[in-house]
This record gives sequence, structure tokens and C-alpha cells, in this order.
Amino acid sequence: MNKQNKIFIEACNGRKVPYTPLWIMRQAGRYLPEYRAIRKKYNFHEMMHTPDLMKEVTLQPIRRYDFDAAIMFSDILVIPESMGLNFQLIEKIGPVFKNPLNSNKKINSISYGDISYFKHIFDGIKKIRRELDNKKSLIGFTGAPWTIACYMVEGRPSKDYRHIRALIYNNPKAFHYLMEHLTESIIEYIRGQVNAGVDAVQIFDTNAGFLSREVFESFSFPYLKRIILAVNKLNVPSILFVKGGGNWLDLLKTSGANVLGLDWTINLNDAKKVVKNKISLQGNLDPSILLSSNNIIRKEVCKILKSYGNGYGHIFNLGHGITPDIPIEAVQTVVNTVREVSPNYK
Ligand code: CP3
Repeated sequence: MNKQNKIFIEACNGRKVPYTPLWIMRQAGRYLPEYRAIRKKYNFHEMMHTPDLMKEVTLQPIRRYDFDAAIMFSDILVIPESMGLNFQLIEKIGPVFKNPLNSNKKINSISYGDISYFKHIFDGIKKIRRELDNKKSLIGFTGAPWTIACYMVEGRPSKDYRHIRALIYNNPKAFHYLMEHLTESIIEYIRGQVNAGVDAVQIFDTNAGFLSREVFESFSFPYLKRIILAVNKLNVPSILFVKGGGNWLDLLKTSGANVLGLDWTINLNDAKKVVKNKISLQGNLDPSILLSSNNIIRKEVCKILKSYGNGYGHIFNLGHGITPDIPIEAVQTVVNTVREVSPNYK
């Protein structure tokens, strides 16, 4: 079966589909008991870089919920690792780098990522693609240069990312040097993912909302456009998720992406008017709704479907990642509701 028959890909391209396809950000993660069982035996890095474990964890949510797309299990921070910057996942903090880029000298010593670092990830993709049903899509991904740079410079999750924001003003040359090296490394990494078999590529600019529109437009967006152009040349759909970017849709619609991922702060109908049916939209249920009762979840999922309304080009998703405290039944309610109700809008 060729890619044209995958409902997720059809929706990315705004073509006719019988129902709204769905997947969930961070669907391969700690809210799943079967993920936690594997995680007990292996550390995060072992899971990312052992092809069989990567395959297993990627397929777990598909087996349980029959989502329309699997997202490969990995992390945006493999890019800094390929440049020699290693992180550890510390409980209750998140990723922490041993050697953050906390001086201009360190930034200027950065070189392009070593593509051989991704060998096991590409092997994992091949294994997943062989086992995943042909009707389902495999989503590859990367972090946006800005979001990845935030972690490299700050060294850990931060409330405000103020050191890297200050760098933009104090040393724009060093900032651009870093962004340039990230962008080229990311493009090579994505090429490898597509060659190994991913069907679409999502770019996560999770930290975009820390920037003013003006700074985003000149210091992050040009790099995003270069990456999207590279994805489009590989003939797979590009999905751009800019968290906090709901008010910038007039700008984001010029990115070249086939799909814009939206957080829950914008109404899908308003977004649809801005992109005028030319770009597909992915989203945008507030993940915190999954902590309420099944009745409320059902009602809110229906609201999202209604807000997109009739027509194609909608991919159901959360407005951001699912958190580890969300009950597995809540996700089943989302899946059942989307499958039952969305055909009414086609
Ligand atoms: O299903 C999937 O989406 C799985 C693949 C995936 C992970 N991280 C696995 C992961 C994806 C697409 C990501 C992207 C990612 N990683 C982003 C951008 C998207 C977003 O959610 O905002 C960011 C900013 C990161 C960096 C990162 N990695 C953080 C902040 C953390 C800690 C998160 C936490 O809640 O503790 C990670 C670790 C991480 N990445 C986990 C998973 C499943 C938790 C790993 C574990 O402890 O088992």
C-alpha cells in the first residue's frame, strides 16, 4: 500500500478522509503501565538507542489505542548529544546537561552533529516501519533549533530561559552561530529519519512562547523555514508545532508547513479562518481535561471536533504532551469519541 492510503497523511494534505485521524503528543510515555514496566529495567538512553526497545515503546500506544500514527520514541535532545553535549534525565527536574554552553567560548567551539550517533535510531525506525500496519503512519521529529538551544545554553529546564534570551541581545553573532550549526545538523538528522522510513516529520518549537513575536520572527522563524523546506523536498508532510504561536498564525502560515500544530489557547475555527483551508490543523484539546470525568472529556472532545467543523484537514491531538498522571481510561474515551463522532463532520 502506498503512502496515499494512510488516513493520517491524507489529512496532512487536506484530502478527503472518512474520519478525523488522531494521535497524542507524548503518547509513548509514562502514563502507560507497559512503558513503566520497561522503564524499570532500562534507562532512558538505553531505550532510545536500542532499536528493539525503541520499536517496542513506539508501538505500545498503537496496540493499546489503535491510534492512526505512531511517533518514534526518542527525544529532541539527541541533537546536542550528537554534538558532544550529553544530558542525564534527573527525576523531578528533567534533562540536565553536564556541560552547558554557558560562555561565548563554549558556544563558538560547537561543530556540526556527528550523524553516526543516530545509527541505532535509524535502525529502530526501520524495525518500526516493518512491524507497523501499512495503514498507520510513522511520525519522525526534531526539536526546533531555538527550543534545543534553550536546553544547551541553560543546561536544564528553566522558568524563563533568561540566559539564552539575554544572549540574543548581548551576542547575536554567537547566537546565530549556534542556530546555524543546529539547523544544519537537524536537516541531516531528518534526512536520515526519512531515508529510514518515517512518513511525516514534526518540528517541536515548544519554547517559542518565551519570545516576543518580533524576536521569534528574526531569530527563530528563518531557521524553522529552512528546516521545513528541507522536509518538503523529501516529499513527506511537515508539521510545525509552535507552542504559544496561536496569535502568530498569520506568520506561521507562511512557514511552508503542511500542518500547524496548535495548543489549546486558540479556537480551531478562528485558526481555520486564518489559514483558509490551505494548511491542515492539528490539535488542540487541553491535556488537563484528561484529568476529569469521562462525561466531561467526551463533551470537550466533541467541542473540538465542532470547532473545526465540516471538512478535511483536521488531525485530532492534544494541545501539548500527555502527562504521566493521566488515567489510561481517559485516553480511551478520547479515542472512542473521535472515532464515533468525527465521521459526522466528513
Ligand atoms: O510519544 C512521544 O511523543 C514520544 C517521544 C518524545 C519524547 N520527548 C519522549 C520523552 C518526544 C516527541 C519528545 C519531545 C521533547 N523532549 C520535547 C518537545 C515536545 C514537548 O513535549 O514539549 C521537549 C521539550 C523534550 C525535552 C525533554 N525530554 C523533557 C523536558 C523531558 C522531561 C519530561 C518529564 O516530564 O519529565 C524529557 C524526557 C522524556 N522524553 C520522557 C519521554 C517519554 C520521560 C522519560 C522517562 O522518564 O521515562
